[in-house]
Amino acid sequence: MNINNNMVNLILFGPPGSGKGTQSANIIEKYGLIHLSTGDLLRSEIGGKTPLGLEAQKFMDQGLLVPDEVVIGMISSKLDANPEAAGFIFDGFPRTTAQAEALDKLLALKKTAIHTVLSLEVPEDELIRRLLERGLTSGRSDDASESIVKNRIVEYHNKTAPVADHYAKFGKFRKIKGDGTVEATFELLSKEIDELVSVRA
Ligand code: AP5
Repeated sequence: MNINNNMVNLILFGPPGSGKGTQSANIIEKYGLIHLSTGDLLRSEIGGKTPLGLEAQKFMDQGLLVPDEVVIGMISSKLDANPEAAGFIFDGFPRTTAQAEALDKLLALKKTAIHTVLSLEVPEDELIRRLLERGLTSGRSDDASESIVKNRIVEYHNKTAPVADHYAKFGKFRKIKGDGTVEATFELLSKEIDELVSVRA
């Protein structure tokens, strides 16, 4: 096991359509972190028609969360597969308090932790607009109708929003204005990450 006390591990948090995937791409390019998106990992399993993918698809097609043990297992394997990482950016994970507690334990085993949670704040009407617009071209079944998009937002409020408290109690939760342009949002995120990197260097 590689122990790197300078690692930078962050969670990009926020509701569906808040820009987590878009901003993760910018962050990994600038900071060289490894991107772990449970949504992308699940879609890859679905694409490969694996048993895990076929099971997950039943939940994803309805805009519901996939069971905790499935996504925790996927993240655990990815952490083990990247022992030399300079740090991780978690996108779409953790999404429940049980997932957050599991992630804390997995990182503690590697003598590291989550250093900050950056939460993209975007009004609900803008989230719905973005997702329905993307649904026109993305082929994502969970962007296909307003009712499924709304289910995803309800799941977020009921199960994922409480994860904020889990990190806020350790002073690790930061809200970021996410309804400006992609560039403006990236600038705000970069300021937070630059500060974190300088403290940990
Ligand atoms: P996941 O793939 O994680 O989807 P999501 O969280 O619903 O998020 P999205 O990918 O839709 O949005 P995003 O915030 O990444 O925004 P994006 O950058 O794409 O999860 C999908 C499903 O998998 C879940 O519903 C669940 O079933 C399952 N799942 C995944 N993780 C799980 C877990 N941990 N536990 C249980 N189940 C899990 O942007 C959206 C659109 O907006 C794009 O078109 C983009 O171009 C546009 N956009 C972005 N930023 C801006 C901007 N500033 N201005 C204008 N447009 C913008």
